[in-house]
Amino acid sequence: MSNSGEIPNITPKIEGSDKTAKRLEGAAVAEAIYKNLALEISLLPVVPKVVFILVGEDPASQTYVRAKEKKCGELGFQGETIRLAAETSQDELLKLIQKLNKDAGVHGILVQLPLPHSIDRITILNAIAAEKDVDGLHPENMGRVCRGDARFKPCTPAGVIEILKHYQIPMKGKSAVVIGRSDIVGKPAALLLLAEDATVTLAHSKTPDLKGVASRADILVVAMGKPRFINRDYVKPGATVIDVGIHRVDGKIVGDVDFESVAAVAGAVTPVPGGVGKMTIAMLMQNVVKAARLQVQTTR
Ligand code: GUN
Repeated sequence: MSNSGEIPNITPKIEGSDKTAKRLEGAAVAEAIYKNLALEISLLPVVPKVVFILVGEDPASQTYVRAKEKKCGELGFQGETIRLAAETSQDELLKLIQKLNKDAGVHGILVQLPLPHSIDRITILNAIAAEKDVDGLHPENMGRVCRGDARFKPCTPAGVIEILKHYQIPMKGKSAVVIGRSDIVGKPAALLLLAEDATVTLAHSKTPDLKGVASRADILVVAMGKPRFINRDYVKPGATVIDVGIHRVDGKIVGDVDFESVAAVAGAVTPVPGGVGKMTIAMLMQNVVKAARLQVQTTR
């Protein structure tokens, strides 16, 4: 089969079928987001400023923060990273957040997770001013997502929805199964799918018969944190599979989905790398623009 379009086709879906699974390219969706954002950025009366706080030396977190900083530079934003030692106390971190909350020149604050065990994640996320919470993890912003009235959507699940919309995958009335119930991905992904009128099941490590549950999904969102766990046995033929996992295994980046196995039955699937990962930063930048716009409006 020739790859005439922008989206390369991959392994035949069902033996004897002429249909093929589509690769859902996060990079292409992210580019479309940045293109749309360019006009909004040009209309802003301020240069958006976002501060990333990185506590400790977690290698993956360092990579993620560097990528966020880089994207800020490309878009002409001020992206500053405050790097703190792993021994930083919760009180010191709270004081820094309070200072940034009051700084009118800072529009967005993001505390990179995970935090060292000596610091309570919830206390820290609660301390960030809701109007600067570009991560969408403050309880006010999470509550608004729950009510279907989002201000800052959590970036990774928002990216999942954008991929589905970009590729015109219907959500309304469809059966969506999310595997994983984290505050950052699983729970908000379920709520955002619900807001799109999907019929949502939120499955997790204690769900019996995960295969049976997953294989009823028209849309399967996998955020369970287990490398290549989901194979074709979990996937309904023709389903859309979105892989939120990211792991390094034997020097290779892989997701929670066994791509080759799943691509043989799915209608569409996101690769790792090159799928959801690209979207997280794009949605963060969208939130930064929104934060700057909202704060400029309220101070005028
Ligand atoms: N660590 C991994 N993903 C995220 C995210 O979306 N936000 C924050 N703050 N930390 C993360």
